[in-house]
Amino acid sequence: SERFNAFEAIGGSETLRRLVTAHYKYVAAHPDLAPIFPNDLTETARKQQQFLTQFLGGPPLFSEEHGHPMLRARHLPFPITPKRAEAWLSCMSRAMDDIALDGTLRDSIFKRLTLTAYHMVNTEDEYD
Ligand code: HEM
Repeated sequence: SERFNAFEAIGGSETLRRLVTAHYKYVAAHPDLAPIFPNDLTETARKQQQFLTQFLGGPPLFSEEHGHPMLRARHLPFPITPKRAEAWLSCMSRAMDDIALDGTLRDSIFKRLTLTAYHMVNTEDEYD
């Protein structure tokens, strides 16, 4: 029997594209997030699409092009505060609303993203 695959369950790359596009639309407009991201989010979104594909159980697109994710290390150049983790997650939650991703599938994906987001925290709010 095959292991449950969240990537396929949400509708694969097409659904993920809509989620990532909506997420970065909110990131670009968020006062706590926009300043630490590049103005042009095209490449950022492309990498995130690759990463989330494998994170959710699809093909390992990110690792094939960029090697081991080492996600926390890749975020060290940026001050990721608890406030920014919360902001990132709020943008993701709104993106999930926009594409009508709901139910237990949404909840389980959001829970995993919450753990990952707080794992990225490398700076306390008062030192940003
Ligand atoms: C890259 C911020 C959480 C996945 C980045 C970049 C920033 C950033 C500023 C660099 C963008 C660029 O130069 O193109 C944040 C903040 C987070 C957060 C503030 C709040 C906790 C996450 C989470 C994930 C993630 C939870 C995965 C689920 C990625 C990926 C990249 C990236 C895959 C591209 C890495 C690369 O350049 O190879 N993030 N991030 N981030 N982020 Fe995050």
